[in-house]
Amino acid sequence: MEAPAATSPSIGFPIDGRCNYFVEKKKRFCRMVAAAGKRFCGEHAGSAEEENTRKRILCPLDPKHTVYEDQLAKHLKKCNSREKPKPDFFIQDINAGLKDETEIPEQLVPFSSLSEEQLENLIKKLRKASEGLNSTHEDHIMSHPALHDALNDPRNGDCAVKHLKQQASILGNIEKLKLLGPRRCFVEFGAGKGKLSHWVDIALKDAENVHFILVERVTTRFKVDGKHRKKDSVFERLQIDIQHLCLNRVPVLREGRLPVVGIGKHLCGVATGKAAGHTVTSALAQGAGACMAPPPRAVCALIELT
Ligand SMILES: C[S@@+](CC[C@H](N)C(=O)[O-])C[C@H]1O[C@@H](n2cnc3c(N)ncnc32)[C@H](O)[C@@H]1O
Ligand SMILES: [Zn+2]
Ligand SMILES: [Zn+2]
Repeated sequence: MEAPAATSPSIGFPIDGRCNYFVEKKKRFCRMVAAAGKRFCGEHAGSAEEENTRKRILCPLDPKHTVYEDQLAKHLKKCNSREKPKPDFFIQDINAGLKDETEIPEQLVPFSSLSEEQLENLIKKLRKASEGLNSTHEDHIMSHPALHDALNDPRNGDCAVKHLKQQASILGNIEKLKLLGPRRCFVEFGAGKGKLSHWVDIALKDAENVHFILVERVTTRFKVDGKHRKKDSVFERLQIDIQHLCLNRVPVLREGRLPVVGIGKHLCGVATGKAAGHTVTSALAQGAGACMAPPPRAVCALIELT
């Protein structure tokens, strides 16, 4: 696949006083100095003669890179910015919630605009709706032996140790909830580098039939999921926004009928809600659980399902 050209203008366009020759292999203009009054450096003066007649234009799909005008049609077929076919498990806004709850501006009014009577009515409604709900939040900071060595490794700095403690606590909680076991599929929401799944995998090193689905909307560098390829566990990364993810359509869940355990660490509050709700709604039939550690100040969603 053709790599997108660099984004900086000094790479997308020739620099003043430098050679105007476009080095196709490097996807940028040559950086050699051109003699005063010349457009090309000594190296490219000859080949530039014939290239000179070809015009480079901005890619219509992404103006951050340029293409030869006469090769535009070919480029559009393989440009990285072209719309790619959506996978089966993509259903637009399937987890976006009811539109009328959030998107009808007329219904969104500030509390300060309500009369005393309207406010009292609202408070009554909220009290009634939350009756019987156990809304007290309790911290369950735990640990897990799988992370023991890493936690005691003096080469790990404060930041690494902070994350390790959080991962250890999540593993401890999943274990306490009896969710850490064989023959199931862990779905890590907002996986980033996939480290939480990595530790779950270490903790379950002797367990059979363990699958991991790592859901992450952005391309991520320094992923750790690739490290597990030789083992029995299966790691699959889905680059998709949770908002559009239909878990039931992910082949391993459709075919394997594996119970699903949703896990996550530091996923933003809204996404945590969607992930938790989503695990519940789309995987309930298969028996499941969810353990989400939201970022500080977000609404907590530590859920156990049986
Ligand atoms: C604060 S990072 C945490 C990463 C990792 N879980 C950790 O604890 O190191 C949050 C991650 O969630 C991803 N994320 C946030 N909202 C998402 C959504 N709606 N769908 C998919 N990924 C999402 C972000 O791209 C980011 O990688
Ligand atoms: Zn040159
Ligand atoms: Zn392009």
